[in-house]
Amino acid sequence: MPGYAIVGMQWGDEGKGKIVDYLTKDADLVVRHQGGNNAGHTIVVGGVQTILHIIPSGVLHPDAVCVVGNGTVIDPQVLCKELDALDAAGCNYADRLKISSSAHIILPYHKALDGLYEQFRGKDLIGTTGRGIGPAYADKANRIGIRFGDLMDSDRFAAKLDRTLQYHNLVLVEAFGNEPIRFASIFDEYCGYAERLRPFMTDTTALVQEALRNDKRVVFEGAQGAMLDLDHGTFPYVTSSTTLSCGACSGAGVGPADLHAVIGIVKAYTTRVGEGPFPTELHDEQGDGLRKAGHEFGATTGRPRRCGWLDCVQLRRAARINGTTALVLTKPDVLSGQETLRICTGYMIDNKVTQEFPPQLEVLEQVTPVYEELSGWKEDISACRDWDELPENARRYFERIAELLDVPIAIVSVGPGREQTIVHASPFEPTSGCLA
Ligand code: GDP
Ligand code: IMO
Ligand code: MG
Repeated sequence: MPGYAIVGMQWGDEGKGKIVDYLTKDADLVVRHQGGNNAGHTIVVGGVQTILHIIPSGVLHPDAVCVVGNGTVIDPQVLCKELDALDAAGCNYADRLKISSSAHIILPYHKALDGLYEQFRGKDLIGTTGRGIGPAYADKANRIGIRFGDLMDSDRFAAKLDRTLQYHNLVLVEAFGNEPIRFASIFDEYCGYAERLRPFMTDTTALVQEALRNDKRVVFEGAQGAMLDLDHGTFPYVTSSTTLSCGACSGAGVGPADLHAVIGIVKAYTTRVGEGPFPTELHDEQGDGLRKAGHEFGATTGRPRRCGWLDCVQLRRAARINGTTALVLTKPDVLSGQETLRICTGYMIDNKVTQEFPPQLEVLEQVTPVYEELSGWKEDISACRDWDELPENARRYFERIAELLDVPIAIVSVGPGREQTIVHASPFEPTSGCLA
């Protein structure tokens, strides 16, 4: 059986964790392939909430093999804390958590530099999560990064840490006037993490390849969202990895033809954490209302999320650059009670309306959204379990989204719980689903 990519279609926090957990009942392997603990993926099973940052969101299924691929950046300290939480919850992952020896690790200087670079940007700051993600990926691109496999060999780790510290201390001391970070303050602590994490290290590329060859179903769990992609997002207000479906290929070591379907997760309205353009943002009570009703506060940093209407210009772009074959709509229950719903169908630029998403930040910052209005619904839909139980106006809203994106809807999520899920068509079959 081939692979299936699950991707965020907006600026992150679309509900990927919930949907990856839901779909893992039909999968053998779940692979995180990019990003790090900037991600916060929430799962609610039996009323109990679990927030995962780097461990794949399939981990609560006792038979699912959970892979952290080569394209991720791993903070060993945070990973150990996440394992502690799973231990406390009685979740046994010992034989099924697999971590790539090629993934890069996040070290204390990455976190320090993340904060200092933000300070340096002043009013143009990105609003990063402060988890050291950008500096860790920069070290990888600069070929001075330290990999998970290096951490497991104390001599190799010592040599690489020493050299990389010399390099970064130049910046910390000479450019920012900070105290240098000492070798001794890192080495022993991280050797301790290495001991704990060693059993999980493996060649995950070979593992995933073998699973695909043996007809296993492999789900690739994206982090962040299309508009935070390093190449195609709202640069520089983006993260430092490839958040699109193609990121699964380089970040796990599979070919494009191994991806049978690309499942795009779309929140029924738009949110964004951090700085950067957001054409449909609501700066009024309606935005505050969405934040309150949707509990829109970051799962990683607790920051309030900026909220606004659904943007189908942005989403059409996301659908194309991901090759999205099926949609999962999340959180429409939050919209219950809105008399009128707005969908952005075009951008006004220089008195002309375009349906194309402008790649230049300077243009995007100036657009005025053009809206189409649809009637809302009053009913609470969180107990609906079937497409036909949904109010007609809700179905009309969903079908209009599918039509504007030209991608069928497979699933509608009506609440955070695993069971609050309506399967309209198989997300694994690229041609099924409703297209209005
Ligand atoms: P992720 O980063 O894409 O995995 O999303 P987050 O976990 O950061 O944020 C999504 C939030 O919405 C979490 O608190 C989820 O529990 C919650 N959630 C997911 N799906 C739904 C849904 O359909 N309705 C509601 N009301 N909440 C949802
Ligand atoms: P999940 O996987 C929402 C945002 C940050 C900031 C920008 C760069 O939970 O959807 P970084 O720390 O990555 O250098 O920050 O990206 N960001 C996210 N926003 N959800 C996420 O992950 C995010 N990961 C990073 O807020 O604007
Ligand atoms: Mg999140």
